[in-house]
Amino acid sequence: MSAYDVVVIGGGPGGYNAAIRAGQLGLKVACVEGRETLGGTCLNVGCMPSKALLHASELYEAASGKEFANLGIEVKPMLNLPQMMKQKDESVAALTKGIEFLFRKNRVEWIKGWGKLAGAGRVQVTAADGSQTELQAKDIVIATGSEPTPLPGVTIDNQRILDSTGALSLPEVPKHLVVIGAGVIGLELGSVWRRLGSEVTVVEYLDRICPGLDDETAKTLQRSLSKQGMSFKLGSKVSGAVVKGNGVELSIEPAAGGSVQVLEADYVLVAIGRRPYTEGLGLENVGLATDKRGMLTNEHHKTSIPGIWVIGDVTSGLMLAHKAEDEAIACIEKIAGKAAEVNYDVIPSVIYTKPEVACVGRTEEQLKTEGRGYRVGKFPFTANSRAKINHETEGFVKVLADERTDEILGVHMVGPSVSEMIGEYCVAMEFAASSEDIALICHPHPTRSEALRQAAMGVEGWIMQA
Ligand code: FAD
Ligand code: NAI
Repeated sequence: MSAYDVVVIGGGPGGYNAAIRAGQLGLKVACVEGRETLGGTCLNVGCMPSKALLHASELYEAASGKEFANLGIEVKPMLNLPQMMKQKDESVAALTKGIEFLFRKNRVEWIKGWGKLAGAGRVQVTAADGSQTELQAKDIVIATGSEPTPLPGVTIDNQRILDSTGALSLPEVPKHLVVIGAGVIGLELGSVWRRLGSEVTVVEYLDRICPGLDDETAKTLQRSLSKQGMSFKLGSKVSGAVVKGNGVELSIEPAAGGSVQVLEADYVLVAIGRRPYTEGLGLENVGLATDKRGMLTNEHHKTSIPGIWVIGDVTSGLMLAHKAEDEAIACIEKIAGKAAEVNYDVIPSVIYTKPEVACVGRTEEQLKTEGRGYRVGKFPFTANSRAKINHETEGFVKVLADERTDEILGVHMVGPSVSEMIGEYCVAMEFAASSEDIALICHPHPTRSEALRQAAMGVEGWIMQA
């Protein structure tokens, strides 16, 4: 039986970052991963392949629509879907191999197979050929991630009725794609296929898109996506889906009840959220149980069983790769006896549509509920010179700051490259900066980042360029 300081179960952003940090700190570490490649959902079937298709489809649309023509570039692009998929798969393969390299560099042992808690400090691993080994560990970190939430009455076959993994590898462009769920996956992957030529209808249970997102931001995004041709059926639920030949017949009814309408599609994407994944993990062998939502709870990354820790999508909080990474670092540093903490108030969220959405901190609705006085500074990209010359003027930057202290409490942006700009406000918020701090910092001209400064000026009412 091999003995380790730390055994990590799961090789996604939570697990691989935990293993790497443990290796850096001189701990003897193994990472158990059952998939054939490392990187988890994020690298294999999540963040990375979706961003590869978003990038390629955005360029395709720019070239085939009016965007290139308006710039004086006349081209007649032709879609080569197999090549678009191939370049995505090649990038994914290179990234997953990269994690293998980082494991070797940091002396992390990759134990290939599915891990099961076998008792205190023991993990049993079953390899693909059925052979079993047992590992001993002072500390065990559970980082088994999440899986798509199923929808009763709509059986995913990944032929016609897809989850996100199926929607990342379609062999053809759907004529009509119905997306169930107007969340991050639905809007990103819906955008990919719409840009490549599909008619896309998004069916959402609530009367708004992206619950949790700042209201004004969500409305602005919905307006932009609608203008691009995506249609939304809000306040609607899908009560059944039947595959008929090369198509699917969906029964849709108002969420509040009412008559059923039939919608026909050639593909359906079910994207109604993800749920924690603990199947076959042997929780019962160590006396651990999940809550009603199937989640393993934690207190500063510790489970209720000494020596067993939990991070990433399988535990509470946002299901985001960088949140899993933050928890991985803090958890391992705690195991190594260091002081470490995750600041859950400063975890950014991004939606990689066009325009992009990027947010951090409190929404206006949250501040109102908390009864906290705040001031708003808002700057539109129509008044940002770089956005204007690039013809990318949709959206705004909105800064929310404490009415009394001016501390930045939340930032919400819709617009060009905002995913790359939110980091500035994350740094500011970690340092408890005021909006005035940002307003007084020199930003390069002409850049979209000037909008960050102008919005901060707006908090005290002195926007200069709008
Ligand atoms: P995972 O990445 O799910 O990794 C868990 C790993 O554990 C898996 O590889 C699994 O095979 C393995 N495993 C499970 N059980 C066992 C076991 N018993 N033994 C061994 N191995 C096991 N997040 C972002 O921040 N940005 C994005 O742009 C983004 N885009 C996304 C797009 C899509 C389509 C999807 C589906 C998700 C996206 N996410 C994104 C979310 C992101 O992928 C997850 O938040 C992140 O992967 C969570 O990391 P994790 O390590 O907790 O779990
Ligand atoms: P989500 O939680 O973002 O959105 C799900 C949507 O489906 C919600 O709007 C919800 O109201 C709706 N819904 C739920 N049940 C429904 C029903 N029966 N009928 C119709 N609508 C219904 O979940 P999604 O999009 O599946 O993504 C899962 C997770 O993956 C997210 O939590 C996100 O954190 C992560 N992710 C992150 C990305 C990013 O950071 N850019 C990209 C993609 C995924």
